[in-house]
Amino acid sequence: MVRILAIESSCDETAAAVIADGREILSNVISSQIDIHTLYGGVVPEIASRKHMERIKRVVDRALADAGTELSDVDAIAVTSGPGLVGALLVGVSYAKGLAFAGRKPLIGVHHIEGHVCANFLNRPSLEPPFPCLIVSGGHTTLARVTGYGEYEVLGRSRDDAAGEAFDKVARALGLPYPGGPAIDKLSCEGNPEAIEFPHAKVDGSEYDFSFSGLKSAVLNHLNSCRMQGQEVATADVAASFQKAVIDVLLSHSMLALERSGDKRFALAGGVSANRHLRAAFEEACKERGVELICPEPVLCTDNAAMIGAAAYIEYQKGHFSDLDLNAYPALRLGERP
Ligand code: KG4
Ligand code: ZN
Repeated sequence: MVRILAIESSCDETAAAVIADGREILSNVISSQIDIHTLYGGVVPEIASRKHMERIKRVVDRALADAGTELSDVDAIAVTSGPGLVGALLVGVSYAKGLAFAGRKPLIGVHHIEGHVCANFLNRPSLEPPFPCLIVSGGHTTLARVTGYGEYEVLGRSRDDAAGEAFDKVARALGLPYPGGPAIDKLSCEGNPEAIEFPHAKVDGSEYDFSFSGLKSAVLNHLNSCRMQGQEVATADVAASFQKAVIDVLLSHSMLALERSGDKRFALAGGVSANRHLRAAFEEACKERGVELICPEPVLCTDNAAMIGAAAYIEYQKGHFSDLDLNAYPALRLGERP
Protein backbone atom coordinates (compact mmCIF):
# COMPACT_ATOMS: atom_id res chain seq x y z
CA MET A 1 0.00 0.00 0.00
CA VAL A 2 1.29 3.46 -0.96
CA ARG A 3 0.50 6.09 1.66
CA ILE A 4 0.76 9.74 0.68
CA LEU A 5 0.62 12.64 3.13
CA ALA A 6 -0.92 15.57 1.24
CA ILE A 7 -1.02 19.25 2.15
CA GLU A 8 -3.25 21.97 0.68
CA SER A 9 -2.95 25.71 1.43
CA SER A 10 -3.74 27.47 -1.86
CA CYS A 11 -6.52 29.70 -0.54
CA ASP A 12 -8.36 29.86 2.77
CA GLU A 13 -8.41 26.25 3.98
CA THR A 14 -5.42 24.75 5.76
CA ALA A 15 -5.74 21.05 4.98
CA ALA A 16 -3.86 17.78 5.27
CA ALA A 17 -4.82 14.19 4.47
CA VAL A 18 -3.36 10.71 4.24
CA ILE A 19 -4.44 8.74 1.17
CA ALA A 20 -3.86 5.04 0.46
CA ASP A 21 -3.20 3.96 -3.14
CA GLY A 22 -4.69 7.22 -4.43
CA ARG A 23 -8.27 6.14 -3.78
CA GLU A 24 -8.83 5.55 -0.08
CA ILE A 25 -9.06 8.34 2.49
CA LEU A 26 -7.29 7.39 5.73
CA SER A 27 -7.68 10.91 7.14
CA ASN A 28 -8.90 14.27 5.87
CA VAL A 29 -8.44 17.34 8.08
CA ILE A 30 -9.66 20.78 6.98
CA SER A 31 -9.19 23.91 9.07
CA SER A 32 -11.33 26.58 7.45
CA GLN A 33 -10.61 30.29 7.77
CA ILE A 34 -14.02 31.30 6.42
CA ASP A 35 -15.16 32.82 9.73
CA ILE A 36 -12.23 35.28 9.61
CA HIS A 37 -12.47 36.22 5.90
CA THR A 38 -16.26 36.66 6.18
CA LEU A 39 -15.55 39.74 8.33
CA TYR A 40 -13.84 41.34 5.31
CA GLY A 41 -16.31 40.13 2.64
CA GLY A 42 -13.68 37.96 0.90
CA VAL A 43 -10.28 36.30 1.28
CA VAL A 44 -7.56 38.68 2.52
CA PRO A 45 -4.35 37.10 1.15
CA GLU A 46 -2.01 38.21 3.93
CA ILE A 47 -4.36 36.99 6.64
CA ALA A 48 -4.73 33.66 4.80
CA SER A 49 -0.94 33.17 4.74
CA ARG A 50 -0.56 34.04 8.41
CA LYS A 51 -3.38 31.68 9.44
CA HIS A 52 -1.79 28.85 7.41
CA MET A 53 1.48 29.54 9.28
CA GLU A 54 -0.26 29.23 12.62
CA ARG A 55 -2.31 26.15 11.81
CA ILE A 56 -0.29 23.98 9.47
CA LYS A 57 1.63 21.99 12.07
CA ARG A 58 -1.50 21.10 14.04
CA VAL A 59 -3.41 20.18 10.90
CA VAL A 60 -0.64 17.90 9.56
CA ASP A 61 -0.11 16.27 12.96
CA ARG A 62 -3.83 15.61 13.23
CA ALA A 63 -3.98 14.09 9.72
CA LEU A 64 -1.15 11.68 10.59
CA ALA A 65 -2.74 10.79 13.95
CA ASP A 66 -6.23 10.27 12.46
CA ALA A 67 -4.71 7.91 9.89
CA GLY A 68 -2.85 6.03 12.64
CA THR A 69 0.42 6.80 10.85
CA GLU A 70 3.69 8.55 11.53
CA LEU A 71 5.82 10.51 9.14
CA SER A 72 8.20 7.55 8.90
CA ASP A 73 5.36 5.34 7.55
CA VAL A 74 4.37 7.53 4.61
CA ASP A 75 5.80 6.94 1.13
CA ALA A 76 5.70 10.52 -0.16
CA ILE A 77 4.79 14.09 0.78
CA ALA A 78 2.49 15.90 -1.66
CA VAL A 79 1.64 19.58 -1.69
CA THR A 80 -0.36 21.97 -3.84
CA SER A 81 2.24 24.08 -5.66
CA GLY A 82 -0.24 26.12 -7.75
CA PRO A 83 -2.40 27.75 -8.86
CA GLY A 84 -3.57 29.84 -5.90
CA LEU A 85 -2.56 32.77 -3.70
CA VAL A 86 1.23 32.91 -3.76
CA GLY A 87 1.74 33.68 -0.06
CA ALA A 88 -0.73 30.98 0.93
CA LEU A 89 0.87 28.38 -1.38
CA LEU A 90 4.36 29.16 -0.08
CA VAL A 91 3.38 28.13 3.45
CA GLY A 92 2.28 24.64 2.36
CA VAL A 93 5.18 24.21 -0.08
CA SER A 94 7.78 25.24 2.53
CA TYR A 95 6.28 22.99 5.19
CA ALA A 96 6.11 20.02 2.80
CA LYS A 97 9.71 20.58 1.75
CA GLY A 98 10.79 20.61 5.40
CA LEU A 99 8.96 17.32 6.04
CA ALA A 100 10.35 15.70 2.89
CA PHE A 101 13.88 16.76 3.79
CA ALA A 102 13.66 15.74 7.45
CA GLY A 103 11.87 12.46 6.73
CA ARG A 104 13.92 11.68 3.58
CA LYS A 105 10.72 11.24 1.59
CA PRO A 106 10.01 12.02 -2.06
CA LEU A 107 8.22 15.33 -2.65
CA ILE A 108 5.38 15.74 -5.16
CA GLY A 109 4.16 19.19 -6.25
CA VAL A 110 0.49 18.95 -7.26
CA HIS A 111 -1.66 21.08 -9.53
CA HIS A 112 -4.64 22.29 -7.50
CA ILE A 113 -7.14 21.92 -10.36
CA GLU A 114 -5.93 18.38 -11.10
CA GLY A 115 -6.62 17.76 -7.44
CA HIS A 116 -10.23 18.89 -7.88
CA VAL A 117 -10.63 16.50 -10.84
CA CYS A 118 -9.06 13.63 -8.85
CA ALA A 119 -11.57 14.07 -6.01
CA ASN A 120 -13.73 11.94 -8.31
CA PHE A 121 -11.35 8.97 -7.93
CA LEU A 122 -11.92 9.09 -4.15
CA ASN A 123 -15.62 9.21 -4.61
CA ARG A 124 -15.70 6.45 -7.22
CA PRO A 125 -12.65 4.17 -6.81
CA SER A 126 -13.56 2.20 -9.97
CA LEU A 127 -13.46 5.34 -12.15
CA GLU A 128 -11.00 5.29 -15.05
CA PRO A 129 -10.31 7.83 -17.82
CA PRO A 130 -11.43 8.90 -20.36
CA PHE A 131 -14.27 11.15 -19.20
CA PRO A 132 -15.18 14.80 -19.67
CA CYS A 133 -15.12 16.98 -16.54
CA LEU A 134 -16.42 20.42 -15.68
CA ILE A 135 -14.25 22.12 -13.06
CA VAL A 136 -16.01 25.06 -11.42
CA SER A 137 -14.25 26.73 -8.51
CA GLY A 138 -13.64 30.18 -7.07
CA GLY A 139 -10.64 30.75 -9.33
CA HIS A 140 -11.32 28.53 -12.35
CA THR A 141 -14.00 27.45 -14.77
CA THR A 142 -12.63 24.82 -17.12
CA LEU A 143 -14.30 22.23 -19.32
CA ALA A 144 -11.83 19.46 -20.06
CA ARG A 145 -11.65 15.87 -21.18
CA VAL A 146 -9.56 13.65 -18.93
CA THR A 147 -7.91 11.56 -21.64
CA GLY A 148 -5.66 9.51 -19.33
CA TYR A 149 -4.27 9.60 -15.82
CA GLY A 150 -2.82 13.11 -15.40
CA GLU A 151 -3.64 13.94 -19.04
CA TYR A 152 -6.11 16.64 -19.98
CA GLU A 153 -7.49 18.09 -23.15
CA VAL A 154 -8.81 21.55 -22.28
CA LEU A 155 -11.94 22.31 -24.32
CA GLY A 156 -12.94 25.65 -22.82
CA ARG A 157 -12.34 28.00 -19.95
CA SER A 158 -13.68 31.28 -18.64
CA ARG A 159 -12.41 34.37 -20.45
CA ASP A 160 -13.06 36.53 -17.37
CA ASP A 161 -14.60 35.74 -13.97
CA ALA A 162 -14.68 32.16 -12.74
CA ALA A 163 -18.15 30.79 -11.90
CA GLY A 164 -17.44 30.84 -8.15
CA GLU A 165 -16.10 34.38 -8.39
CA ALA A 166 -19.38 35.44 -10.05
CA PHE A 167 -21.34 33.77 -7.22
CA ASP A 168 -19.21 35.58 -4.63
CA LYS A 169 -19.49 39.00 -6.31
CA VAL A 170 -23.25 38.76 -6.88
CA ALA A 171 -23.76 37.55 -3.31
CA ARG A 172 -21.84 40.53 -2.03
CA ALA A 173 -24.03 42.91 -4.06
CA LEU A 174 -27.10 41.20 -2.57
CA GLY A 175 -25.73 41.74 0.95
CA LEU A 176 -25.07 38.02 1.51
CA PRO A 177 -22.01 36.80 3.46
CA TYR A 178 -18.77 35.36 2.02
CA PRO A 179 -18.51 32.77 0.51
CA GLY A 180 -21.39 33.70 -1.73
CA GLY A 181 -21.95 30.34 -3.43
CA PRO A 182 -23.51 28.50 -0.48
CA ALA A 183 -25.54 31.62 0.45
CA ILE A 184 -27.01 31.93 -3.07
CA ASP A 185 -27.58 28.17 -3.21
CA LYS A 186 -29.69 28.41 -0.03
CA LEU A 187 -31.55 31.64 -0.84
CA SER A 188 -32.41 30.41 -4.36
CA CYS A 189 -34.63 27.71 -2.88
CA GLU A 190 -37.06 30.49 -1.91
CA GLY A 191 -36.87 32.34 -5.25
CA ASN A 192 -38.26 31.99 -8.76
CA PRO A 193 -35.49 31.17 -11.27
CA GLU A 194 -37.71 32.42 -14.14
CA ALA A 195 -38.41 35.82 -12.49
CA ILE A 196 -35.66 37.78 -14.27
CA GLU A 197 -34.09 36.87 -17.59
CA PHE A 198 -30.36 37.47 -17.23
CA PRO A 199 -28.05 37.15 -20.27
CA HIS A 200 -26.50 33.80 -21.24
CA ALA A 201 -23.22 35.01 -22.70
CA LYS A 202 -21.76 33.45 -25.83
CA VAL A 203 -18.06 33.88 -26.46
CA ASP A 204 -16.77 34.79 -29.93
CA GLY A 205 -14.66 32.12 -31.58
CA SER A 206 -15.30 29.30 -29.09
CA GLU A 207 -18.26 27.06 -28.43
CA TYR A 208 -16.79 25.96 -25.14
CA ASP A 209 -15.36 29.11 -23.51
CA PHE A 210 -17.35 30.90 -20.83
CA SER A 211 -17.83 34.52 -19.81
CA PHE A 212 -19.52 35.54 -16.57
CA SER A 213 -18.59 39.22 -16.22
CA GLY A 214 -21.53 40.38 -18.41
CA LEU A 215 -23.94 38.36 -16.29
CA LYS A 216 -22.50 39.85 -13.11
CA SER A 217 -22.89 43.40 -14.56
CA ALA A 218 -26.48 42.63 -15.60
CA VAL A 219 -27.29 41.64 -12.00
CA LEU A 220 -25.64 44.82 -10.65
CA ASN A 221 -27.56 46.94 -13.20
CA HIS A 222 -30.81 45.27 -12.19
CA LEU A 223 -30.15 46.03 -8.52
CA ASN A 224 -29.25 49.65 -9.29
CA SER A 225 -32.33 50.25 -11.39
CA CYS A 226 -34.57 48.74 -8.69
CA ARG A 227 -33.00 51.03 -6.10
CA MET A 228 -33.24 54.12 -8.33
CA GLN A 229 -36.93 53.43 -8.95
CA GLY A 230 -37.50 52.92 -5.25
CA GLN A 231 -38.54 49.30 -5.80
CA GLU A 232 -37.80 46.67 -3.23
CA VAL A 233 -35.29 44.11 -4.51
CA ALA A 234 -36.70 40.57 -4.64
CA THR A 235 -33.41 39.14 -3.38
CA ALA A 236 -34.38 35.47 -3.60
CA ASP A 237 -35.67 35.90 -7.18
CA VAL A 238 -32.44 37.67 -8.22
CA ALA A 239 -30.34 34.91 -6.61
CA ALA A 240 -32.37 32.12 -8.24
CA SER A 241 -32.41 33.80 -11.68
CA PHE A 242 -28.67 34.53 -11.58
CA GLN A 243 -27.91 30.97 -10.49
CA LYS A 244 -30.10 29.58 -13.28
CA ALA A 245 -28.24 31.66 -15.89
CA VAL A 246 -24.88 30.28 -14.66
CA ILE A 247 -26.12 26.70 -14.57
CA ASP A 248 -27.77 26.94 -18.03
CA VAL A 249 -24.49 27.98 -19.65
CA LEU A 250 -22.36 25.43 -17.78
CA LEU A 251 -24.83 22.70 -18.66
CA SER A 252 -25.22 23.51 -22.35
CA HIS A 253 -21.45 23.62 -22.97
CA SER A 254 -20.93 20.44 -20.98
CA MET A 255 -23.66 18.52 -22.81
CA LEU A 256 -22.27 19.66 -26.16
CA ALA A 257 -18.86 18.25 -25.19
CA LEU A 258 -20.49 15.04 -24.02
CA GLU A 259 -22.51 14.58 -27.20
CA ARG A 260 -19.41 15.13 -29.35
CA SER A 261 -17.16 12.78 -27.36
CA GLY A 262 -19.81 10.08 -26.96
CA ASP A 263 -18.57 9.35 -23.43
CA LYS A 264 -20.97 7.56 -21.12
CA ARG A 265 -19.74 9.30 -17.95
CA PHE A 266 -19.46 12.95 -17.00
CA ALA A 267 -17.67 14.30 -13.92
CA LEU A 268 -18.07 17.50 -11.91
CA ALA A 269 -15.37 19.09 -9.75
CA GLY A 270 -14.63 22.23 -7.71
CA GLY A 271 -16.43 24.24 -5.03
CA VAL A 272 -19.34 25.35 -7.23
CA SER A 273 -20.17 21.71 -7.98
CA ALA A 274 -21.36 21.50 -4.36
CA ASN A 275 -24.35 23.60 -5.56
CA ARG A 276 -27.54 21.56 -5.13
CA HIS A 277 -29.36 23.12 -8.09
CA LEU A 278 -26.37 22.59 -10.39
CA ARG A 279 -26.04 18.95 -9.32
CA ALA A 280 -29.77 18.37 -9.87
CA ALA A 281 -29.67 19.97 -13.34
CA PHE A 282 -26.65 17.88 -14.39
CA GLU A 283 -28.18 14.76 -12.89
CA GLU A 284 -31.33 15.22 -14.96
CA ALA A 285 -29.51 16.07 -18.20
CA CYS A 286 -27.17 13.09 -17.85
CA LYS A 287 -30.04 10.75 -17.05
CA GLU A 288 -31.90 11.85 -20.19
CA ARG A 289 -28.83 10.92 -22.23
CA GLY A 290 -28.15 7.62 -20.47
CA VAL A 291 -24.92 9.06 -19.05
CA GLU A 292 -23.62 8.45 -15.53
CA LEU A 293 -22.92 11.63 -13.56
CA ILE A 294 -19.94 11.41 -11.21
CA CYS A 295 -19.69 14.05 -8.57
CA PRO A 296 -17.61 14.22 -5.37
CA GLU A 297 -19.48 14.54 -2.10
CA PRO A 298 -19.72 18.26 -1.13
CA VAL A 299 -16.80 18.18 1.35
CA LEU A 300 -14.55 16.88 -1.46
CA CYS A 301 -15.85 19.50 -3.95
CA THR A 302 -14.50 22.45 -1.96
CA ASP A 303 -10.80 22.72 -1.12
CA ASN A 304 -9.30 19.75 0.74
CA ALA A 305 -6.04 17.81 0.83
CA ALA A 306 -7.53 14.36 0.12
CA MET A 307 -7.94 15.35 -3.54
CA ILE A 308 -4.28 16.48 -3.61
CA GLY A 309 -3.25 13.03 -2.34
CA ALA A 310 -5.35 11.38 -5.07
CA ALA A 311 -3.68 13.49 -7.78
CA ALA A 312 -0.22 12.92 -6.24
CA TYR A 313 -0.63 9.14 -6.47
CA ILE A 314 -0.78 9.43 -10.27
CA GLU A 315 2.52 11.35 -10.24
CA TYR A 316 3.99 8.83 -7.78
CA GLN A 317 3.18 5.94 -10.10
CA LYS A 318 4.74 7.75 -13.03
CA GLY A 319 7.85 8.53 -10.98
CA HIS A 320 7.30 12.29 -11.30
CA PHE A 321 8.89 13.76 -8.19
CA SER A 322 9.77 17.36 -7.34
CA ASP A 323 13.13 18.68 -6.23
CA LEU A 324 13.63 20.61 -3.03
CA ASP A 325 13.74 23.80 -5.11
CA LEU A 326 9.98 23.41 -5.75
CA ASN A 327 8.33 26.85 -5.77
CA ALA A 328 4.78 28.21 -5.65
CA TYR A 329 3.24 28.77 -9.10
CA PRO A 330 0.20 31.04 -8.69
CA ALA A 331 -0.95 30.99 -12.33
CA LEU A 332 -0.37 27.40 -13.43
CA ARG A 333 -2.83 26.20 -16.12
CA LEU A 334 -4.42 22.74 -16.16
CA GLY A 335 -2.01 20.21 -17.67
CA GLU A 336 0.99 22.58 -17.28
CA ARG A 337 3.99 21.31 -15.32
CA PRO A 338 6.21 23.83 -13.51
O1 KG4 B 1 -12.91 24.87 -5.13
P1 KG4 B 1 -13.04 25.92 -4.09
O2 KG4 B 1 -13.29 25.48 -2.67
O3 KG4 B 1 -11.81 26.86 -4.06
C1 KG4 B 1 -11.13 27.27 -5.21
O4 KG4 B 1 -10.29 26.49 -5.72
O5 KG4 B 1 -11.45 28.38 -5.68
O6 KG4 B 1 -14.23 26.86 -4.59
C2 KG4 B 1 -14.67 27.95 -3.83
C3 KG4 B 1 -15.82 28.58 -4.57
C4 KG4 B 1 -16.32 29.87 -3.96
O7 KG4 B 1 -16.44 30.83 -4.98
C5 KG4 B 1 -17.66 29.49 -3.37
O8 KG4 B 1 -18.59 30.56 -3.36
C6 KG4 B 1 -18.09 28.40 -4.32
O9 KG4 B 1 -16.93 27.67 -4.59
N1 KG4 B 1 -19.10 27.51 -3.72
C7 KG4 B 1 -20.35 27.39 -4.19
C8 KG4 B 1 -21.02 26.50 -3.31
N2 KG4 B 1 -20.14 26.10 -2.34
C9 KG4 B 1 -18.96 26.73 -2.61
N3 KG4 B 1 -20.95 27.95 -5.24
C10 KG4 B 1 -22.23 27.65 -5.47
N4 KG4 B 1 -22.96 26.85 -4.65
C11 KG4 B 1 -22.39 26.25 -3.58
N5 KG4 B 1 -23.12 25.44 -2.79
ZN1 ZN C 1 -10.04 24.76 -5.19
